Amino acid sequence: KKGSYDHFMQKEIHEQPHSLTTTMRGRLKDGGILLGGLKEHLRTIRRSRRVVFIGCGTSYNAALAARPFVEELTGIPVTMEVASDLLDRQGPIYREDTAVFVSQSGETADTLLALDYALENGALCVGVTNTVGSTLSRRTHCGVHINAGCEIGVASTKAYTSQIVAMAMMALAIGSDQISTQARRDAIISGLSSLPRNVSEVLKLDVDMKELASSLVDSESLLVFGRGYNYATALEGALKVKEVALMHSEGMLAGEMKHGPLALVDENLPIIVIATRDACFSKQQSVIQQLLSRKGRLIVMCSKGDASAVCPNGSCRVIEVPEVADCLQPVINIIPLQLLAYHLTVLRGFDVDQPRNLAKSVTTQ
Ligand code: UD1
Ligand code: F6R
Repeated sequence: KKGSYDHFMQKEIHEQPHSLTTTMRGRLKDGGILLGGLKEHLRTIRRSRRVVFIGCGTSYNAALAARPFVEELTGIPVTMEVASDLLDRQGPIYREDTAVFVSQSGETADTLLALDYALENGALCVGVTNTVGSTLSRRTHCGVHINAGCEIGVASTKAYTSQIVAMAMMALAIGSDQISTQARRDAIISGLSSLPRNVSEVLKLDVDMKELASSLVDSESLLVFGRGYNYATALEGALKVKEVALMHSEGMLAGEMKHGPLALVDENLPIIVIATRDACFSKQQSVIQQLLSRKGRLIVMCSKGDASAVCPNGSCRVIEVPEVADCLQPVINIIPLQLLAYHLTVLRGFDVDQPRNLAKSVTTQ
């Protein structure tokens, strides 16, 4: 049921205004947030010493995108765990922890084994999944179904944006007892209501991303630099490019650029820099300057109207996206990168919906 689309991945990318609407349906109530699956547990979560996010692949990246706003809105320290690495290390998990497991399928073996481990260690275990009735949904103490609708393409796209929105609602619900952040929460809730409209807007970049893909089709590698709210966007954009377009790509923390990656910069290696408006904007402007002074081949993602602010001499290619509440910007910013990965794959002649060596649900370790 691809309708007018050539591939499920393409359909699922373009479906995001709708999937995000269903993720939020019935949950933005009277200016507040109502998550039926968490409401009995909010007090326990608020009392926990730490939130530990656990997932694999794209689901891990979604949790990484959520980390800054969960810390900001709840005041609880957040640590990140790739499920397999937590198991390899047998890392410490305590009774006072809230362990949040993020998985589209709810059946990923590493994530489920990490869940067993956290249950044994007495943590409160919360699920964030797209699959009602999945093992994750059944074995966690409580959780949130992201309600993005069935995702068929092996590369996760609409589930990623719905996971971020579900975790934004979760952070708002946990932090809802704090008076000092009321205005900030109101602004984010209003940003959530207008998000589907802004996602429709950013999807209009489809043609531009196809053109960008044709200029990158023969590249051997693609770097993506992000920081702050959009560090996760850099990792997830690069993951999409490598897993479907079968092109080497790395997402990097822009703050680490000078500590190694800068050595790679020359006039051939394409580099995407994410520099939309937020508290890190001026730092990203200086990253762009340093890359340009080394003749880097730059593609800069910026907020609408900022082309000359990010690239004064016009020597980089610019992707302008709608500006939304800073912590929701990752939902917008990943979409041009999803479109880019899609078009690169088609142009390079690879299988979009069934990438080499990959399965939709990794049920073995
Ligand atoms: C629920 C109903 C929804 C209905 C709504 C109306 C289900 C699956 N959802 O949605 O159809 O429209 O009430 O009030 O029947 N859970 C976990 N682990 C997870 C995910 C969820 O334990 O990983 C639990 C939740 O704690 C909750 C239940 O599953 O007890 C349903 O979760 P969710 O669908 O997110 O709840 P509602 O949004 O209230
Ligand atoms: C990337 C991708 C994988 C999955 C990972 C976790 O597009 O599909 O990286 O994100 O295997 O899968 P879930 O979310 O089902 O646990």
